[in-house]
Amino acid sequence: MGGNHSVETGLGALLKGRVRVFSMLAAVGLMSLNPASLLAWATSPQVQADPVANYPVRVTLIPNPRTDLTFARDVAPIIQQNCENCHRPGNVSPMVLQTYQQVRRYATRIRDRVIRRQMPPWPIDRTVGITEFKNDPSLSDEEIRTIVDWIDAGAPLGDPANLPEPMVWPDGIEWTFKAELGPPDMVLQSPMYNVVANGMDQWPTPITPLEDVQIEGAPLTQDRWIKAVEVRPHSVEARYVFHHANPALIMPGEIVDPMEPQSGRVKFIDSAVGTTGRIFPDNQGRMIRPGSSVSWAMHYFPYSHDIEAALQVAVWYYPVGYEPEFYSMGDVQMQTSMTSYTGEFNPRTGTRDSSGRLHDHSDILIPPNSVTTLRGVHVLDRPAMMHSIRGHMHLLGKYQVLEAIYPDGRWEIISKLNWDHSWHTLFLYEDHVAPLFPKGTVLLMSSTFDNTADNPHNQDPDQWITGGDRSVDEMGHIRLGLTYFENEEDFQKMVEARERLLDTRPAAQP
Ligand code: HEC
Repeated sequence: MGGNHSVETGLGALLKGRVRVFSMLAAVGLMSLNPASLLAWATSPQVQADPVANYPVRVTLIPNPRTDLTFARDVAPIIQQNCENCHRPGNVSPMVLQTYQQVRRYATRIRDRVIRRQMPPWPIDRTVGITEFKNDPSLSDEEIRTIVDWIDAGAPLGDPANLPEPMVWPDGIEWTFKAELGPPDMVLQSPMYNVVANGMDQWPTPITPLEDVQIEGAPLTQDRWIKAVEVRPHSVEARYVFHHANPALIMPGEIVDPMEPQSGRVKFIDSAVGTTGRIFPDNQGRMIRPGSSVSWAMHYFPYSHDIEAALQVAVWYYPVGYEPEFYSMGDVQMQTSMTSYTGEFNPRTGTRDSSGRLHDHSDILIPPNSVTTLRGVHVLDRPAMMHSIRGHMHLLGKYQVLEAIYPDGRWEIISKLNWDHSWHTLFLYEDHVAPLFPKGTVLLMSSTFDNTADNPHNQDPDQWITGGDRSVDEMGHIRLGLTYFENEEDFQKMVEARERLLDTRPAAQP
């Protein structure tokens, strides 16, 4: 593809300076969007076929690899701390990586996966946009070099006396956030569903009173603010059939219209294969009320035998009496293929919840044997803070890009998500880089689909593919974790808080 890579390289370079997400702080005011930038975006090469590998490798292997590395001393600690949690008996992964023999046996595949930065899973382009996240499990360049050089030198064991103590893992699965937040205050579990092995997608949508599905924690007796939510299939087997779930809360008094799938509901958490969960930034959260119901909205995909499956949701509250100042929307789903709009104000909950309203993939149409990019635009009608991002596509997904044009005309890439259907990662931005968008910011979103034979997940590149709910249909949306500010004063408060946060941080490394 021709020489014009200005969007990725030029902006990428710009982003490396202090001209960062927070420099838009000064850019409050009426929207003065430069139409030329929009046009440039619409025709930019960045959104067309991308010749670069899905996972750009930034590790330039040094010319003189180390040859004195051993498993016992150098590699075992890296595998223990970064891989074993998943690659241990009874967990999600296809193989166990605990002993020298196990690691050695998979050495070639390990080399391949770590050098592409596909393991640990973190499907985002680390070379553009915001690069600091709360839940980034990536290996450092140095760790990758150690693993690769060790394998290239023949993967020797070394002196077994140097092996680290074996890790002690709890029985069963632990909540990931437990390490940081302690045990959850409440755990819910959806009604058990038998996923029959008939080859078809299945969408059970039970609605249950909260108290009927609570399996851990004290009963809810008063309104509580939610600090964090984590989700997981209830068993290892259930993971085989879990596609996604969008559990929502129906607060007492809300009216559910059976003809309107989203009516009366507020988002709880959206989850899919590979989603861990979210922790709200301080001073932001969502509320849960006694007497609420949960609408589960599950999507299962069958396995070779029938499997009983359920979803568990763990909730951590803010302390009793602590009221975060800002009600967060949680996930706001935006279409990357059309112009979307902001949720309507709900006088009953006092909030604007756009759950599902921006969700429509009827306009997706992907020609056979093509790499196609669809684009969507969303203009923020209020200032907002964006604390997380998660993409969603199906088998043809390649990548998704979120860009912002600020009211002063500046334009930057926020994130580029590399699509990996096994990992619906919810990326949580670090507090000091979570974008603060002034009112009038234009969010540009694009999804790139690979309907060619090059895509290993493609079932048949000769088909026209349309939008739809089945795994073989396509979707293209991005979920932005958004907290809106209803007025400029509140936004200014956040801007000032950000400036204080940046002032107290150690100076950035050059
Ligand atoms: C969050 C859990 C998790 C972590 C952490 C993790 N893996 Fe994985 N790994 C998986 C799962 C699940 C798969 C199978 C699905 C896939 O390929 O994405 C997998 C697949 C792999 C494969 C491919 C296996 C094959 O059959 O080809 C390799 C190699 C691998 N992991 C190595 C590693 C290494 C090395 C680390 C640490 C540096 C690591 N993984 C960290 C969960 C994890």
